[in-house]
Amino acid sequence: MSELRTVRLHHMLHVSTITLDRPDKLNALDPDVLAHLGEAIEEVRGRADTRCVVVTGEGRAFVAGADIARMVDMSDADARRFAELGHSTFAALESLSCPVIAAVNGFALGGGCELALACDFIHASEKAKFGLPEVGLGVIPGFGGTQRLLRRVGLGVAREWIFAGRTYDAAEAMRVGLVNRVHAPDALLGEVQQLAQEIAMRAPRAVAEAKQVLHAGADVSLDAGNALERDAFTRLFATDDRREGMRAFTAKRSPLFSGR
Ligand code: COA
Repeated sequence: MSELRTVRLHHMLHVSTITLDRPDKLNALDPDVLAHLGEAIEEVRGRADTRCVVVTGEGRAFVAGADIARMVDMSDADARRFAELGHSTFAALESLSCPVIAAVNGFALGGGCELALACDFIHASEKAKFGLPEVGLGVIPGFGGTQRLLRRVGLGVAREWIFAGRTYDAAEAMRVGLVNRVHAPDALLGEVQQLAQEIAMRAPRAVAEAKQVLHAGADVSLDAGNALERDAFTRLFATDDRREGMRAFTAKRSPLFSGR
């Protein structure tokens, strides 16, 4: 376990957990928090052992947004740098080859909702609250929220959420397809860790190829996406894990994947 000032990183078996840890400010994202998050992401990227990542928040928030106090007096140039830092940090998270699950324990507003959207999928506590309230502050989402929300839930819902700037509970977030599953607050982390461990038991290169094909396929035609799928399927046939998975099945035993 390594300690960063506002972000904790913990590894257990093949699962790495990134915890935003600035609870007195509801884990609001300032440039330091984003830098620490970026360091945690790069540490995870460098670990051959990590097969799944969980992102969560300490205290009663996941992340209550970009740090408004730090934005009050920003110049236009500062604002652009801040947006670029948020974009590059979330793009780095999104580009991890293994799955990333957001375990949204509380407020996921503004930049917090955008952070959850940069994860592969979201599980939430019954206490979670989601929203993109930026238009109430005279701006719009600046860390990728406009683009990722529309791709996740469709244009109609994204428009309503972003234009009205309302806050929504976990049930509504699940109804519109932002959240996959809602858990009792005390059960959230355990359930997500169990799912992450289950993902980590699967053939890592197959999971990584699936992640890449699903990600790339979202922005291309069906034909182009299907071509990506065929290429990845074929590539996987050359792996040790493909042989192990199929032999284990025919031998009626559990597979033991090496990641090769
Ligand atoms: N930026 C900076 N500080 C924030 C913050 C943010 N986005 N969200 C919360 N905080 C700070 C508060 O200023 C407060 O700090 P203080 O104790 O030093 O005054 C602390 O976190 C606790 O928040 P508080 O507002 O007292 O808690 P609450 O339970 O009354 O309200 C929220 C919780 C989430 C409804 C409220 O904090 C809020 O609306 N936050 C901003 C949400 C937002 O607009 N996000 C998008 C930003 S672009």
